[in-house]
Amino acid sequence: MATKTKPSLPKTSRGAALWAERSRIVSSGTAAYTDLVLERGLGAKVWDVDGKEYIDFAGGIGALNVGHCHPKVVAALREQAGKLLHTSFHVAAYENYLGVCRELIAVAPIPGEKKAILFNSGSEAIENAVKFARGFTKRRTVIAFDNAFHGRTLLCLALDGKHKPLRQGLGAMPPDVHHARYPYSYRPPMGVSPADLTAHCLESLENLFRVSAAAEDVAAIIVEPVQGEGGFIVPTAGFLKGLRSLCDKHGIVLIIDEVQTGFARTGKLFAIEHDGIAPDLLVTAKSLCGGMPLSGVVGRKDIMDSVATGAIGGTYGGNPMACAAALAVFDIVKNDGLVEKGKTVGETVKKRFDAFAAKYPFVGESRGLGAMRAIELVTDKKSKTPLPAAKVKAILHDCQDRGLIAIKAGVHDNVIRTLMPLVIKDDELERGLSALEGALDSVKL
Ligand SMILES: Cc1ncc(COP(=O)(O)O)c(C=O)c1O
Repeated sequence: MATKTKPSLPKTSRGAALWAERSRIVSSGTAAYTDLVLERGLGAKVWDVDGKEYIDFAGGIGALNVGHCHPKVVAALREQAGKLLHTSFHVAAYENYLGVCRELIAVAPIPGEKKAILFNSGSEAIENAVKFARGFTKRRTVIAFDNAFHGRTLLCLALDGKHKPLRQGLGAMPPDVHHARYPYSYRPPMGVSPADLTAHCLESLENLFRVSAAAEDVAAIIVEPVQGEGGFIVPTAGFLKGLRSLCDKHGIVLIIDEVQTGFARTGKLFAIEHDGIAPDLLVTAKSLCGGMPLSGVVGRKDIMDSVATGAIGGTYGGNPMACAAALAVFDIVKNDGLVEKGKTVGETVKKRFDAFAAKYPFVGESRGLGAMRAIELVTDKKSKTPLPAAKVKAILHDCQDRGLIAIKAGVHDNVIRTLMPLVIKDDELERGLSALEGALDSVKL
């Protein structure tokens, strides 16, 4: 198979010079989905330092559902910057931290009394959700899933369901973490029919209880309602409900990781609402804050109050600037129909991706929920052998040449996913999808 691989930037451009400097002075440990150096963004468009315009289907990896530099977010930040930048919530409270907690408590699909707390990153919130679960249950074991992604701090690395490159060469991981099977219907275990996949995965969990992680030692099961980095894998019907039942049966805390799925991406405010089950703890980050670093855990009051005062927190968690931006995001969600946009953008992308799956022999599957959509690329539909990562990279480079930023996902790095801002205009969405189609058209088998 031949794909276009011409370099994206002329070697003499300012972007190329800055990129070369990035390679020289920034640790090579951080991923590089593109070789772009950006200067500004607005809505679903960004411009690089050489003035070239791109449609952004990456949205800061799902952190920009409200778009780049949303005017309400920018205005809130400008106003807040003149008032208070930082106190540390440990030292003194401030009103917009309470405002964000109030909003999270109001919208979290969890019945009964709730409390919330704020952090900086998704990983930090995940780590603390596990601490709450351990504090509450006085148990130590945590169960995560194959293909899962929960972050890159040490405990999150242990939870991740992909070894390379995440844990590669990094030594011992925190103990008492086990992985169970997530229902990946495009790649079910050999001999398991799609109809049996939910039961098979729930039984694999029961087996784990019997073999290596006694249910009475399990503090938490942590799960993404749609796996993000794992390849936009939507679980089979009944799987999440089954997890809820198992947690109820064994007194296990169910942690739902909505870091990538949350804030309207799937056509609901939180993806778990599609399944109608209640988490014990819900973790949010990314699009909660329109581009600023903020995350949170919202959950049952009894769990959230179960750890010693001082055991949870950090200098910057729920910083006043980030809280100001998050309150603007809640305003946009309520008043600008963001959840509806998650549905309509998703419908448009789905139509095109379904057509790609019908048109190209190397598009194995079109899948997703709302505007969280993906295509999985294979060498051929029969073998489902993942298209080699280098080929996928070449397609994404071609997209970049055509003015589209698109990124990959998947345990085999063979999935192209869409996380465009939901405020994207119809003509921008069409331009982005056409650029992707052009790149797929130029793939030669
Ligand atoms: C589902 C999920 N959980 C947790 C994280 C970690 O978030 P962060 O990168 O902000 O630490 C991510 C990041 O992509 C994610 O997608």
